[in-house]
Amino acid sequence: DWTMAEFKKTKIAEIREQVGDGKVICGLSGGVDSAVAAVLIHEAIGDQLTCVFVDHGLMRMGEADQVVSLFRGSYNIPLVHVEAETLFLGGLKGETDPEKKRKFIGKTFIDVFEEEAKKIGGAAFLAQGTLYPDVIESVSFTGGPSVTIKSHHNVGGLPERMNMELVEPLRELFKDEVRDLGRELGLPDVFVGRHPFPGPGLAIRIPGEVTRERCEILRKADAIYLEEIRNAGLYDAIWQAFAVLLPVKTVGVMGDGRTYDSVCGLRAVTSTDGMTADVYPFDAAFLTRVATRIVNEVKGINRVVYDYTSKPPGTIEWE
Ligand code: XMP
Repeated sequence: DWTMAEFKKTKIAEIREQVGDGKVICGLSGGVDSAVAAVLIHEAIGDQLTCVFVDHGLMRMGEADQVVSLFRGSYNIPLVHVEAETLFLGGLKGETDPEKKRKFIGKTFIDVFEEEAKKIGGAAFLAQGTLYPDVIESVSFTGGPSVTIKSHHNVGGLPERMNMELVEPLRELFKDEVRDLGRELGLPDVFVGRHPFPGPGLAIRIPGEVTRERCEILRKADAIYLEEIRNAGLYDAIWQAFAVLLPVKTVGVMGDGRTYDSVCGLRAVTSTDGMTADVYPFDAAFLTRVATRIVNEVKGINRVVYDYTSKPPGTIEWE
């Protein structure tokens, strides 16, 4: 794509100009945006860049490993992988309030990131995969509209605290353009095409208390749902699809026995920027197949429901 090739060249020059021979740290979230930012910056300044992946243990099945092998293996980008599941799950213990869960995860993420950044030492720059819609939505952090719907998870406040300058090469781009840029940089299609994933991860897809066991149950259901979506050839037509695990138990029947297990909700939406969204209209046979597989294959779930709410009035995530 000619336009993206030009954009890439311009940005690489700008990054070199801004950074000089300074050191840059980039936090990887596991998502597309931070990955594209990191690969672009690495192309500009090589090993002046170090990536830090704070692994909160709240990723989907297999995703943390994919990030690590992509960066260390394919790109040979210096990567610090901080395995912090115990720290995050420990702090979430007993917490059921959505905003408190978000705030705890955001704060802990920053604490861990800061500690690692100090260990690396001497970085004057912090890179972020901020996109244009983030620039608009984050007005609410800085005293814009007084209603905060949800505290978004990012490393806001960290640059000032650590006295670092931001490098944000994706600030003018929308999601589809970031994907084009990612392809231009040679990132694999399955990675670039990934659905967005929220910073607080599975914690906000488990209303109520988050435990390791509930994360595991959700990971299995979510993997089945996404596998069926890919098999049906629908993945790229959907903006985001995911399972949620509800803190509600219902009665069911399995064989000749009674079950009493959790409800799993399925969500799938179309959108262009996540600010508004429409429900994806799966056909009944598809939903039936997914529900049957989840109830049969995932211990701990005995009922599946489909979320038919658009945004607004719903949000995409459940918390
Ligand atoms: P909502 O649920 O507000 O989500 O309709 C809109 C889009 O934002 C994603 N999302 C987040 N992304 N940190 C992120 O990086 C967050 O804290 C966060 N919360 C929601 C959500 O997945 C959807 O794409």
